[in-house]
Amino acid sequence: MKQEVCIRRMWHQHEKNNRKSANMGTSILSPRRHLNRGVMTFVTLLLFATMATLVWNYEGVQRLVKLVPTEGFSIGAKRPTNVLTPNLSKENETSTGSDSLKKEDSAAIPVEIKPLQPLVVDLTILKGAVAKGAVCLDGSPPGYHLHRGNGVNARNWVVFLEEGAWCESEAACQLRARAHLGSSRWMNVRTFEGILSNSEKVNPDFYNWNRVFVRYCDGASFSGNMSLSVKDKGKVLQYRGESIWNAIIDDLIEKKGMKNADKALLGGCSAGGLSSILHCDKFKTALPSANVVKCMSDAGFFVDTKTYKGENKIQAYFKSVVDLQNVTDTLPKYCTEKRNPIECFFPQYLLSQMKTPLFVVNGAYDWWQMDNIVAPDPLGEWDHCKNNASRCTAAQLNIIQGYRQELLDALKPIQESKKHGMFIDGCFHHCQASYDAFWSGQYAPHVNGQTASQALGDWYFERDTKTNSVVDCAFPCNPTCPPKTSGALSVGRPSFRNWSKRG
Ligand SMILES: *[C@@H]1O[C@H](CO)[C@@H](O)[C@H](O)[C@H]1NC(C)=O
Ligand SMILES: *[C@@H]1O[C@H](CO)[C@@H](O)[C@H](O)[C@H]1NC(C)=O
Ligand SMILES: *[C@@H]1O[C@H](CO)[C@@H](O)[C@H](O)[C@H]1NC(C)=O
Ligand SMILES: *[C@@H]1O[C@H](CO)[C@@H](O)[C@H](O)[C@H]1NC(C)=O
Ligand SMILES: *[C@@H]1O[C@H](CO)[C@@H](O)[C@H](O)[C@H]1NC(C)=O
Ligand SMILES: *[C@@H]1O[C@H](CO)[C@@H](O)[C@H](O)[C@H]1NC(C)=O
Repeated sequence: MKQEVCIRRMWHQHEKNNRKSANMGTSILSPRRHLNRGVMTFVTLLLFATMATLVWNYEGVQRLVKLVPTEGFSIGAKRPTNVLTPNLSKENETSTGSDSLKKEDSAAIPVEIKPLQPLVVDLTILKGAVAKGAVCLDGSPPGYHLHRGNGVNARNWVVFLEEGAWCESEAACQLRARAHLGSSRWMNVRTFEGILSNSEKVNPDFYNWNRVFVRYCDGASFSGNMSLSVKDKGKVLQYRGESIWNAIIDDLIEKKGMKNADKALLGGCSAGGLSSILHCDKFKTALPSANVVKCMSDAGFFVDTKTYKGENKIQAYFKSVVDLQNVTDTLPKYCTEKRNPIECFFPQYLLSQMKTPLFVVNGAYDWWQMDNIVAPDPLGEWDHCKNNASRCTAAQLNIIQGYRQELLDALKPIQESKKHGMFIDGCFHHCQASYDAFWSGQYAPHVNGQTASQALGDWYFERDTKTNSVVDCAFPCNPTCPPKTSGALSVGRPSFRNWSKRG
């Protein structure tokens, strides 16, 4: 263990150095390969500062390494402050620890990123939902966290869906069922940050609304609908995401007062961001007397595109999820009537017919998509580029820029619509809205002097419709990109390589 911590620490440092260098160095990543001496000196100073910070934070790093849970395939942005402490026994620690790099990845998050005003919210477990068949993968009841609104906004609601990719095989779901993404037995308190914060400074538009963080434990973006439980090696699995969605929304409406909502916003990050798109019209229908119902998706706009080798891995992967969990009939009918249901799991084919207004927040170089959709890279051919973006070849940079263009093309229906909106910065990141630092704090990317949180507010309240559709210039151009810039492309993740093989 000691050695492991030590390795992780070194890795952390290495990763952090990468991040620093890429962060300061639009020039490092540009085709111009010559660094001038001043920049080199700056890099050296930064390395020293980084090392000093690391030593200073060593205890914190160690704590993180121990606490950060292993999640299924993916992960979304994990920040230490928001990482839930699983109720770890030794046995469960090893049984869910499929590989060590994922933990290292979590440990790489800079330790100085802390919520500005930590608000820890208890878990509400919906025991009664079990009778309605609304259960997590392992059969445990689903849950959410609610922090009440007050004052003039006591009747307004933000409902935000948790991130955590998907499980596409019984074995993968079985693995999840033993951790918090598949079982409420592993869920714990949640720190509310970003769009869930109760600080007016962090979250001026929604801080005193009712704010709900819905826990994700079905592995299919709250969309599975399998009536039978599935047995895998003697253990029962349940694919009940759609029922979880219904049970939680019903509970909020009937028992927590959401039926009196005046305004509401459904959001989510990553798999939760996709889910907020898939459920957006249903959310609106569930709140017939609300005046304003809109949705936002944070890093949930997964593009139907091919890998750099021309294979359509993500479609194959989504097909496995949709088939395994019997998702098809829960997808928007207007899409499944016309298209292959797998396509209807991709936001781009839903946009033109969605009735409810949607705001898309996505990095133009979403690192999850880079790692899993664009360059899953089982053989590690991209490692040099992922580990240090200055070593990306011109061809690799071309592929990255090509992906950005595909994302923008897929988002055209938003640009052409009056009701939808988007904020696409030129950064490498994945999930911002549920973290203070990335939403409105020191690492929030700015485009035209505005953060995604400000743009979302302008769009939601129709304060400034001129800026509904914000598209940043192409990389490397935005000096306000967060430090995960190089982390975006850094560090191969074995689990991702594995799923690209299974895909
Ligand atoms: C990244 O690659 C560049 C060019 O090969 C090299 O000069 C630099 O030292 C590398 N950075 C790190 C942190 O390895
Ligand atoms: C953690 O486990 C202990 C012992 O099994 C139990 O008493 C406690 O309630 C659990 N905590 C949570 C949050 O599940
Ligand atoms: C490990 O987790 C499973 C599922 O939550 C639980 O049934 C089992 O008792 C745990 N094992 C230990 C030793 O706590
Ligand atoms: C799959 O879903 C459809 C409709 O959602 C349902 O009619 C069917 O029974 C489901 N199949 C299984 C095996 O649960
Ligand atoms: C889910 O499946 C059940 C039957 O197993 C069906 O009655 C129900 O309508 C399905 N839900 C959706 C949203 O298709
Ligand atoms: C992932 O792949 C590596 C290398 O092929 C292997 O050692 C590891 O056990 C795999 N992990 C899973 C969860 O399949």
